[in-house]
Amino acid sequence: MIKQRINSKITTKIGLLVSVQAIFIIASVIILSHFESQGTLLGNSVNIAGKNRFLTSNVLIQTEEYLSGFSNVSAAKAAMDNLQSNLLQLKEGGHSSVQVELAPLPPKYLHLWDSINNRWQAYKGFIINNIIKPTPVVSLFSSSTTKSLSTVNAAAAKKESQFMASEIINLSNSLTADLGNEVKNNSQNLILLEILLGALNIAIVILIFYLVRKMLTPIFALTNAASEIKKGNLDVSIVHKGNDELAILAESFNSMASSMRNYIEKQEELTLQPQYANKELNRKDRLKDEFVGIASHELRTPVQSILGFASLANNGQIGAKEACKGVLLEAYRLQQLTNDLLDVTRIKSGSSLTFAMEKVRVNQIILDVVNVVKANLKEGVSIETKIGGNGGDSIDDNNNNDMEIYADKGRIIQAISNIVGNAVKFTATGTIIVQSNLSNDKKRVEIKVSDSGSGIAEDILPNLFDKFVTKTLGNENKSGTGLGLYITKAIINAHKGKIFAYNNKQGVGATFTIVIPTIHEDR
Ligand SMILES: Nc1ncnc2c1ncn2[C@@H]1O[C@H](COP(=O)(O)OP(=O)(O)OP(=O)(O)O)[C@@H](O)[C@H]1O
Ligand SMILES: [Mg+2]
Repeated sequence: MIKQRINSKITTKIGLLVSVQAIFIIASVIILSHFESQGTLLGNSVNIAGKNRFLTSNVLIQTEEYLSGFSNVSAAKAAMDNLQSNLLQLKEGGHSSVQVELAPLPPKYLHLWDSINNRWQAYKGFIINNIIKPTPVVSLFSSSTTKSLSTVNAAAAKKESQFMASEIINLSNSLTADLGNEVKNNSQNLILLEILLGALNIAIVILIFYLVRKMLTPIFALTNAASEIKKGNLDVSIVHKGNDELAILAESFNSMASSMRNYIEKQEELTLQPQYANKELNRKDRLKDEFVGIASHELRTPVQSILGFASLANNGQIGAKEACKGVLLEAYRLQQLTNDLLDVTRIKSGSSLTFAMEKVRVNQIILDVVNVVKANLKEGVSIETKIGGNGGDSIDDNNNNDMEIYADKGRIIQAISNIVGNAVKFTATGTIIVQSNLSNDKKRVEIKVSDSGSGIAEDILPNLFDKFVTKTLGNENKSGTGLGLYITKAIINAHKGKIFAYNNKQGVGATFTIVIPTIHEDR
């Protein structure tokens, strides 16, 4: 089995706290038991001191008994020995006869003990010299020699003996009382010490509890965060400072939650992608159906007209020339439409329109387009050109050579024709102005077509350049398929240009502006 040494900072911290607590408890027990044993020893001294009194009385009684002839000298001596050894024990400590341990008398009581001892020594001397070993006298009652005192002497000795014993008893009493007070004070101090140590112990336990709880806070945070994750909330993060195992765990948890978040987001994306793709496919399919529907509807109109002209001619209702003219016109319209539809299909498929770029003079194209339109103008409508600019704010009058662009000539003609064609179509009376300007830096050419017609319907303005956007104002059915502006914008974009439109501020007609880079910018 491989033994692995776990070097845990948390374990070290907790171990340290537990050690502090254990040391403190042991120290408390040692201190308390020391003071308690001191108290016990002192209590024993009180008993011994109290015993002095009893033993002194006993000496007195025994000597009196002896004096009265009721007992022999050995009882008095034994009583004296008891008092003597009791006094010694009181001073020096040791073990009493019943194996009670005694401490030496505290020094501050030694003077009192000395007084007792001095008195006792005097008393003892008096007993030995005057009571136990008196001058032998001839007994009045027997012929043998006895150690009895004379009656006069015996009474005096008894009196003196009582006096001396009472002195020792009084001193012993005051020593007992002093020691008793000391024991009382000590036990009060012991209670206070016990309370203090108990309070300190509780404080340390609370402190340890607080510190451990603080150390374990990340565990609680982790538990909460984990249950949040279980509920499905992955947006969780744990804040924990430090460098212990819990900090590392918190960091690992955070990165795990973040990885899970990323993983789920990716999974969601992956699940959603086909849905989006499907939606897009459906949308395109719908647009295609719409396109096919509108296109076939638009194609049907000129075809029906052609059929109408042919059947009228066939029935002899109109002449062949008239029929041919009508058929040609509609066939031209049909051709126009199919060309437009073809362009739209190209733009939609992304293959884009094809362009044969060359140097093209914008002014020449304008003049050519206007000349064609002029020939077919309806009554009340005129058209004029302002070639080369009118000296406006930022546009300079320049020679025609400067107003050259790289372009597909046919497509530029198609774009300008669409704009001018619309202006003519949507203007009942008034003048259409076609002007060209060159920017001061000669890098852009601007073609502006203003009319005095119906103006663009407000609701189609935002989508004006989308396909199939048409709107007829008033009762005239002038709008076409709605492909002209869509194709025009595609052509202008392909020439890195811009096209925009607005209704004239005076409230009459609309203005279309095309801006294309010149050869100076293009190169
Ligand atoms: N000069 C204009 N004045 C007012 N409305 C305009 C003008 N030019 C375009 N429009 C509005 O914009 C719509 C879209 O024009 P667009 O040229 O794309 O289509 P169209 O002219 O209706 O048909 P198509 O050009 O395909 O024959 C028109 O139907 C019309 O409502
Ligand atoms: Mg048009």
